[in-house]
Amino acid sequence: MKRFEPVIVGFVCNECVYAAADLAGTTRLSYPSNIRLIRVPCSGQVDMTHILRAFENGADGVFVGGCLKEQCHYVDGNVKAEKRIHFLRETLKAMGIKEERLGIHFMSASMGREFANFAQELTSTIRKLGPSPLKGKTKTIHQNGKRAMLRDMLLSMAKKADVSKIDFSVVIEGFGETEIDKNKCIGCGACDYVCKDGAMAVEVKKDGLLIKNTYWKCTACRMCSDVCPKECLEVKDVFDLSRFLGGKEEIKTEVGMTQCENCGKSFLPLMLAQDIERFLSTKDRTGEFLDHCPKCRKLDQADRIRRTQGLAGKPMRVKSQKSSKRLTTKWVK
Ligand code: FES
Repeated sequence: MKRFEPVIVGFVCNECVYAAADLAGTTRLSYPSNIRLIRVPCSGQVDMTHILRAFENGADGVFVGGCLKEQCHYVDGNVKAEKRIHFLRETLKAMGIKEERLGIHFMSASMGREFANFAQELTSTIRKLGPSPLKGKTKTIHQNGKRAMLRDMLLSMAKKADVSKIDFSVVIEGFGETEIDKNKCIGCGACDYVCKDGAMAVEVKKDGLLIKNTYWKCTACRMCSDVCPKECLEVKDVFDLSRFLGGKEEIKTEVGMTQCENCGKSFLPLMLAQDIERFLSTKDRTGEFLDHCPKCRKLDQADRIRRTQGLAGKPMRVKSQKSSKRLTTKWVK
């Protein structure tokens, strides 16, 4: 009977394991041809999606090779890679797949012999385990963006997994839980403005503002907490697989709005208006203009000018810009 030959994909750091494999070759040490190496600048660059995609596309085993501990040329790339591998091994285990199929190994560039031995050991281990059950089974629809892709992949894999069995004691970077102090938030919307991942969102309702957060989109970059003028946002490094896969948008807080005294339209968060008024009072100025929305304020101003010109009560032609290309004209009293 023909012997099973596994396909093993190795994402190896250019500075160490790749050089060690090269050394093994130049010193004529033989190692199995089952190993396919992919050279990366640092093991910290290997994303979880790369590993899952390798499994999807037919790898029976995957390993990441990094520099020895505390010798990463990019400070802590190998530490980050180790955390990611820990999480993925736990996920594989929860799915009933042998976690030996995935590993991380640290070496220096001079360890050619160690690399050859390691390659032989790994190949025989994977050979004993047989073909990967993930091969061709996980049909994921890859969306745009790395985060959406990871969610897609884990979603298709986790259908079979018992999520409660996954050990999240090691926090992997890039996942954040956002907490908002409801008493401090003024609804300025700065967090929504700076969030490049679309995790923070401000939705304007008739009677208030909703500050929303989507957990799976948050990459814990902390731009929102840095920019918040009231320091009411806090991002904690938390990874919650069920919430990550759930993908729901959560309402974090609700902020009231001021209504225009003229048209009744909501136009400014209440607490922000109070803040502006407080600031103006320190400059001996009143904030009465905050009683009207910008549109009514403009009309009010135009009316005052017309009164000084003796045109009060006569119809006025105003231009409203419906689109950048077309200007329409209407008559108002
Ligand atoms: Fe080798 Fe970072 S440079 S692991």
